[in-house]
Amino acid sequence: MADKPKSMSSRVKELNEARAHNEAGGGKKRIEKQHAQGKLTARERIDSLLDEGSFNEIGLFRRNRTTTFGMDAVDAPADGVVTGSGTVLGRPVHVASQDFTVMGGSAGEAHNKKVVEMMNAAVTAGTPFIIFNDSGGARIQEGIDSLSGYGQVFYANVQASGVIPQVCIIAGPCAGGAVYSPALADYVIQTRKAQMFITGPGVIKQVTGEEISADALGGADAHQSVSGVNHFVADTDEQAILIAKKLLSFFPQNCQEQPPIVDMDPDVSYDKDLAKIVPVEDKQGYDVREIIKRVVDLEDFLEVQAEYAKNIVVGYARINGRSVGIVANQPSALAGVLDINASDKGSRFVNTCDAFNIPVITFVDVPGYLPGVAQEHGGIIRHGAKLLYAYSRATVPLITVVLRKSYGGSYLAMAARDLGADRVFAWPTAEIAVMGAEGAAAVVFRKEIEAADDPEAARQEKIAEYRDTFSTPFMAAARGLVDEIIDPGETRAKIANALEMLASKRKKAPRKRHGIEPV
Ligand code: HXC
Repeated sequence: MADKPKSMSSRVKELNEARAHNEAGGGKKRIEKQHAQGKLTARERIDSLLDEGSFNEIGLFRRNRTTTFGMDAVDAPADGVVTGSGTVLGRPVHVASQDFTVMGGSAGEAHNKKVVEMMNAAVTAGTPFIIFNDSGGARIQEGIDSLSGYGQVFYANVQASGVIPQVCIIAGPCAGGAVYSPALADYVIQTRKAQMFITGPGVIKQVTGEEISADALGGADAHQSVSGVNHFVADTDEQAILIAKKLLSFFPQNCQEQPPIVDMDPDVSYDKDLAKIVPVEDKQGYDVREIIKRVVDLEDFLEVQAEYAKNIVVGYARINGRSVGIVANQPSALAGVLDINASDKGSRFVNTCDAFNIPVITFVDVPGYLPGVAQEHGGIIRHGAKLLYAYSRATVPLITVVLRKSYGGSYLAMAARDLGADRVFAWPTAEIAVMGAEGAAAVVFRKEIEAADDPEAARQEKIAEYRDTFSTPFMAAARGLVDEIIDPGETRAKIANALEMLASKRKKAPRKRHGIEPV
């Protein structure tokens, strides 16, 4: 007599046991090791990111099909990556979290396929995609299948680019070609427990003889301040998750939606202290973040790449509850000059805002592009062009506020009217000119100054004459390059009003396959 089919209750029991087995990942010992290193497990990270009880796992029972190198005998729950969907602050997202306790989070064929499927699901549903990277890289036993899987991940990153926000939290090792998925995403948040590099210290020593620790080479601080690879640094997984949540709060779900409007701070009263921040007479430096904080809601500014190319400040905030991206020259670092790194940082930020319907507010106080052989030979021409390209291409509202100096090519590069700014405001202290009055007088009036009885007095006179004529916002306003010269105290009110007026901005780019932006 044939066995009776198993009852539903015994099948459910088996299911729950199988679930529990898979959810335990690489087991107690490896989880303890993870915790001992101050790291959360893959599932704890997801739980901490998502709203409580909102996670729906997809692919818990996926397995690799490899038989080489004893893989047929290996138990790799969920193939080392936890994937699924849930909500963050009430909004749907798709997630993947590499499980270091399962074969070191190494990425084989099934593992990579799960990640790709989650990215594609995010694109289809129009939700952000967030991934936690914590992996030994390509699963060595799976050889070319693993490599091919990485190729598919990169391809999916690129297809999703500009469609949905993509955030990578680097929470453990991320080495070799694996670093290119984060590099293709929109934002990289790296914890101080994680390292990223193409080739580690050992290989570098063999090839070039250089000696360096893993942390100095690819730790969070190195990539924050030297390479510019990450955008945010966190001490812990929990802190990284908070940053990701806050970052996403400024973004729409996808490129076809507008960012959420938060009912926040309608106060647009006159700010009598704003003007005091900018020293006018002596051209000293000041921290432009003081201005930004006074202009945005609740002084709440999420700075991006805070330690990289400090001469330009970029980040997200809200004004009257509307998400804005802010770009500002930073006079306290290299006098706020534009150089190669600042151009890269600023242009990428503008591109990201533009992709996701986030208006860009630009605060200008810029002496020019940085002179020097290293800059010229490093390609300041093509790097500097990125800012021109990014602003000129942008179709989101562009609002520019000239605080103090704005000279030459850098005047144009900082979202000038000619590059498509919708509103250009200038403080009365703005100096918009081809170059500074001192330099201009020295060139234009050189002969007169040399021939004068008192050359120094003549020089000062010519400087004053040039400044009075050109180094004011009035000439630019007369030409329509500045819309309004405003009292600094009105800055927040003026921007808030402009944002409302421009909320329905419609600007279509000309038909083309795609532009060829400078790189
Ligand atoms: C298979 C791997 C693995 C990998 C780690 N493991 N990396 N299994 N493929 N790539 C396994 C280990 O065998 C071990 O298994 C478990 O994961 C934990 O690893 P440990 O070495 O014990 O951990 P730890 O001491 O913390 O060191 C972490 C590590 C190290 C630094 C990441 O594991 C390591 O160097 N791994 C290899 C890195 C690597 O060379 N990857 C290939 C890079 S090439 P058990 O069973 O003992 O727990 C690459 C190309 C991508 O990624 C190309 C894309 C284009």
